[in-house]
Amino acid sequence: MTYLIVHLIHIFSVFIYGGFLFTDNLFLSKMKRDLSEQEHSKVREYFMKYVRKLVPKSLIVAVLSGIYLILVNFGEISDEGLSNFQIVLLLKAFLGLWLGVRGVLQVFFGINPLVFKSHIVPFILVIIIIFLSQIMFSV
Ligand code: HEM
Repeated sequence: MTYLIVHLIHIFSVFIYGGFLFTDNLFLSKMKRDLSEQEHSKVREYFMKYVRKLVPKSLIVAVLSGIYLILVNFGEISDEGLSNFQIVLLLKAFLGLWLGVRGVLQVFFGINPLVFKSHIVPFILVIIIIFLSQIMFSV
């Protein structure tokens, strides 16, 4: 039962985090075409005011619930070495942890990313992670 609850928490926290990145990259950024720089940053700030309350926390919950899921799911490493499932899951976990560390440093410690400062790379990584989360069980 615990696993099911944590798995659901993982899916919903990812839904919130991914949903923000989807909206920011595909909708908010497009508003620049119709609004002046000043208008755009004003409208964006209205949006970000609420985003800051929820999205960073959902990213942390996604990572913490993911750590629980991987501890349950990973399994033993056989004498032949890592299985394909374990390799893909480790890659998914690495990308997820990178997003998590990047987000926490930025939001809670004000340390901005050195590279890929926009939300485009996190958006692309979330899409890749979702694919990995599905193919990992069939490789
Ligand atoms: C922002 C980062 C992350 C995203 C977007 C993400 C996304 C996902 C998605 C979409 C699933 C599939 C859910 C399903 O089909 O039922 C999943 C499952 C999983 N995730 Fe993550 N995840 C993230 C971070 C992590 C981290 C950091 C770890 C481990 C350290 C992790 C470990 C797992 C595991 C083990 C599963 C398999 C659960 C199962 O199917 O039983 N995730 N994740």
